Amino acid sequence: MTTSLLRGRILDFSGDPKGPDDTDCYSYIDDGALLITGGIITARGTFAEVSAQSPDAPVTDHRPHLLMAGFIDTHVHFPQIQVLASWGEQLLDWLSDYTFPAELKYADAQHARAMARRFYDQLTDHGTTTAVAYCSVHATSAEAFFAEAEARNMCMIGGKVMMDRNAPEGLCDTPQSSYDDTKALIETWHGRARGHYAITPRFAITSTPEQLEMAGALMRENPTCYMQTHLSENHDEIAYTASLYPDARDYLDIYESNGLLGPKALLGHSIHLEEREIDVIAATNSKPVFCPTSNLFLGSGLFDEGGLRARGITNGIASDIGGGTSYSMLQTLNEGYKVLQLRRQQMHPLRAFHWITRGNAVALGLEDKIGTLAVGSDADIVVLNAGATSATALRMETVETLSEELFVLQIMGDDRAIAQTYVAGVAQK
Ligand code: GUN
Ligand code: ZN
Repeated sequence: MTTSLLRGRILDFSGDPKGPDDTDCYSYIDDGALLITGGIITARGTFAEVSAQSPDAPVTDHRPHLLMAGFIDTHVHFPQIQVLASWGEQLLDWLSDYTFPAELKYADAQHARAMARRFYDQLTDHGTTTAVAYCSVHATSAEAFFAEAEARNMCMIGGKVMMDRNAPEGLCDTPQSSYDDTKALIETWHGRARGHYAITPRFAITSTPEQLEMAGALMRENPTCYMQTHLSENHDEIAYTASLYPDARDYLDIYESNGLLGPKALLGHSIHLEEREIDVIAATNSKPVFCPTSNLFLGSGLFDEGGLRARGITNGIASDIGGGTSYSMLQTLNEGYKVLQLRRQQMHPLRAFHWITRGNAVALGLEDKIGTLAVGSDADIVVLNAGATSATALRMETVETLSEELFVLQIMGDDRAIAQTYVAGVAQK
């Protein structure tokens, strides 16, 4: 088994920060070290301690950079990597004019495989080591997604979208074929290597009631799978959904009545929610996912992070590529900070960095494996250089505290701040 030792400044969260000065929620070691054995963190401490324990382990010295758990992106569309920066539309027109044509190409297994390689290259270049992804409707796209994740030993969650109406013919399955394809994909990929399956009815507009029933059956039959869908992103979407499901009490009721909610349900966007919907999300411990760059780019609205959190709800945060405009979870934090400013809410840097690491891991129920640098965790690690560009180096000249450094990364950081990314202990750059 290979052993290696990483040296650097170590920051690791153990709990949700209570406020900007909560020093109990993290540990920080100025000259720290992580011992990695067979892809797992097997020791953590000062460099002096850990190197004495394992004097023969080869050392990679990342000082003065910061070692943190790899970033986690809880909502991203794998077949939209060539959709970013498509001009001029809001959600429904953007889907039909740009997104669906791009997703049609994933019927071709060769295209899907080539794009999977480029997708993972982008993620690791940006410091993201786990993502929850929508694949296209084609089982081939999910095959490519999981196979490439396995080849790279990455912890990935995803599923083929189920969609049987209101989309081009080449993107429509049927209730039965979506059930059969999803079942077969779960059998092959769920729990294999570091993969997890997410049952993925795209959203109510592109599913008939019969298909959502099938999705509910899949959830009952596979309770360890995730469920991901979209909820209340845009006013036109909500009105159209209501017209398609006239008997539903509200948008969430469509998913609720099919048994799709629960702790493993990820509800992308969740912006324009009714009181009843918020109550149900809280009661079922479902997880809304904030996608700030997408919400601003598509003009969708301002997520009520503070309001939902005050109700005891755990929110994820995500890029939503390709409605989102950056793979970088740092840029996601930057735009998220601004969205919350417009709501008169705050995202302080401790909470921000907890959120894209341990916080998203908690939302996924995976905090024992990813999202922290605890002994026993998988060695998914990001190495951050807060002074990687001339502008950030200039700003860093006046930075005195860890929180200030984190805030520079949170607002000005992007892939240039990622000095290295490790997946299960293996350097990706
Ligand atoms: N709602 C349904 N599909 C999508 C999608 O691909 N992106 C976004 N942002 N919202 C959606
Ligand atoms: Zn989405």
